[in-house]
Amino acid sequence: MIKEEGLSELRLAVFASGSGSNLQAIIDAIKEGKLEARINLVVSDKIDAFALERAQKEGISTVYINRKDFSERGDFINRLLAIMDEYRVNFIVLAGYMKKVPTELVRKFTGRMLNIHPALVPAFCGKGYYGMKVHQAVVDYGVKVTGVTVHLVDEEYDNGAIVAQCTVKVMDDDTAESLAERVLEYEHAIYPETIQLFAADRVDIRGRKTYIKDN
Ligand code: GAR
Repeated sequence: MIKEEGLSELRLAVFASGSGSNLQAIIDAIKEGKLEARINLVVSDKIDAFALERAQKEGISTVYINRKDFSERGDFINRLLAIMDEYRVNFIVLAGYMKKVPTELVRKFTGRMLNIHPALVPAFCGKGYYGMKVHQAVVDYGVKVTGVTVHLVDEEYDNGAIVAQCTVKVMDDDTAESLAERVLEYEHAIYPETIQLFAADRVDIRGRKTYIKDN
């Protein structure tokens, strides 16, 4: 789809609220030539997000933008959309972004916005399930297997078509913290690989299903 529009290269905006270890994995994959994309911009709703520092260290442009700094919702949306145009973004990657993305942005980037969720969707996902809360719920429930899901973003939480998933074993002595650490290692592998599928135009989206085309 992106190639049909004559956009040969993914020009990413990565949205992150926290540490940005997934952002780092994407940066590293690009540097290593495993991911054919460029990061035009890193966006955060947290002024002190470590993700912003990681980006600045790499010479990547950063923008802090938060709904609470705008009295009118419309002004916030217009600014957000203008920023995407200004930085010529054609693909959005949510990497530990803890805010719901406004509908207007989701619609503009239909089929071109990914999220990573640290569990096997449709389990332990949806409103209220983010970051460490997901892993705590997994440990408390007593499941033996959790995982990682990369999915397209639609207007509901963690609901869009799934593009990639992998499983991660839950150990008897896991805490939310130890589990989060293990799951993150898998995230760092699967996210750049999945973005590369889009860069190579290998993802066929049909309704809520995706099919990966051969090379
Ligand atoms: C990651 O585990 C990511 O899957 C999760 O937040 C963490 C961010 O880590 N995202 C969500 O829970 C979104 N619902 P990072 O800042 O080190 O990439």
